[in-house]
Amino acid sequence: MAKFSLKVRRFKPEPGEGPYWENFDVDLDPDLSVLDGLLQVRDQQDGSLSVRCSCKAAICGSCGVKINGQSTLACKTRLSEAKEWANRSNGNSEPITIEPMGNMPVIKDLVTDMESTHWQKIRRVTPWLLPKGDPPEREYIVPPESMIDVTQTMACVQCGACVSACLSMEADPDFVGPAALAKAYRFVGDPRDGERKERLHDLAQDPHGIYNCTHCFACVEACPKGVAPMDQIMRLRRIAGHDEDIDDVNNGRRHELAFVNIIEQKGTLDEALLLQESFAPGIKGKLKPPRGAIKALFDNIPTALRAIRSGKARSAEKLVPGIHPKLPGDAQKHVKRIYAHAEEHRIELNLYIKGEEFGGGDDNEAEELAENELQGKEGAPA
Ligand code: SF4
Ligand code: SF4
Ligand code: FES
Repeated sequence: MAKFSLKVRRFKPEPGEGPYWENFDVDLDPDLSVLDGLLQVRDQQDGSLSVRCSCKAAICGSCGVKINGQSTLACKTRLSEAKEWANRSNGNSEPITIEPMGNMPVIKDLVTDMESTHWQKIRRVTPWLLPKGDPPEREYIVPPESMIDVTQTMACVQCGACVSACLSMEADPDFVGPAALAKAYRFVGDPRDGERKERLHDLAQDPHGIYNCTHCFACVEACPKGVAPMDQIMRLRRIAGHDEDIDDVNNGRRHELAFVNIIEQKGTLDEALLLQESFAPGIKGKLKPPRGAIKALFDNIPTALRAIRSGKARSAEKLVPGIHPKLPGDAQKHVKRIYAHAEEHRIELNLYIKGEEFGGGDDNEAEELAENELQGKEGAPA
């Protein structure tokens, strides 16, 4: 047994007062969970403490909270682990802080309103199969390997930890969000679904859809089930932009291609070209603006000026096209070889595929190639 100090963020709606912190000490086996600590507080010290839970085994997804600022499941986080984590970030003998999840209204103490922020968005992506044609007489039969691609998203327990951690959702509460987009991939990737293209169109054209994710990785870190929602969003983008050729009104696809093309040409990101290349692609001055691109380019001038004013784009190198530094020696050639290899071998970073017979060989080969290329090792595969 060991003593743990829990600092819990409380909120009671009835008196109409704001939230406040309250400390509780518990004496428990360090291998028990933070949820066990909270339940002991509720049983022995304050019966009014509200926390949602059911399975205590990381299956039902009910006990999502923030522990020491990180969104996760209370039943999956050991007290010893949370204590170590608190000490590491705030110094020795710091209490374990426990707060309700972010990006959601708080109903009481640690209980949040999942309906308005999570379930509504899940329904937004039509979370069921939409097969085309008459159903078969018996069950649908699909090759097992065609389902492996969606197994990662099927591990989701709808806890909302990724929604709580999402930085884009903080800036844009209408963003469809990591959990719902991961769920969307579950059906886009399912060979039985007959509305794949319509689903992709819908999510690409929505201004709060797939192109609203900023690749911050917060959802990947937060997800207690290894769903890696950001990876699923990138898959949706790859299928929408690359495979289905969907040119979205948000210019998301072109913006993404601008990054890819600039780095292919210059090795690193020449930010001075990013705006031009996003709206009027054709590096090295070969401008071929698509319809509406010039207007969009001018519409974005205020954003560019804000970036300069805020210091995001600050050096002459970043502002003036043409004075971006070149990579040393043969480095640019190696970058191009990595691109050529990636074109040829599509790499899927699926937790359930990596290292297994389905595509594992390609992953390893690609990783080795990239490492050799970056280190300039001799004998790297051509
Ligand atoms: S990677 Fe995208 S979806 Fe995930 S938390 Fe960041 S912005 Fe949100
Ligand atoms: S993707 Fe992960 S973090 Fe998000 S709701 Fe599902 S299990 Fe929870
Ligand atoms: S209580 Fe079910 S996931 Fe934590």
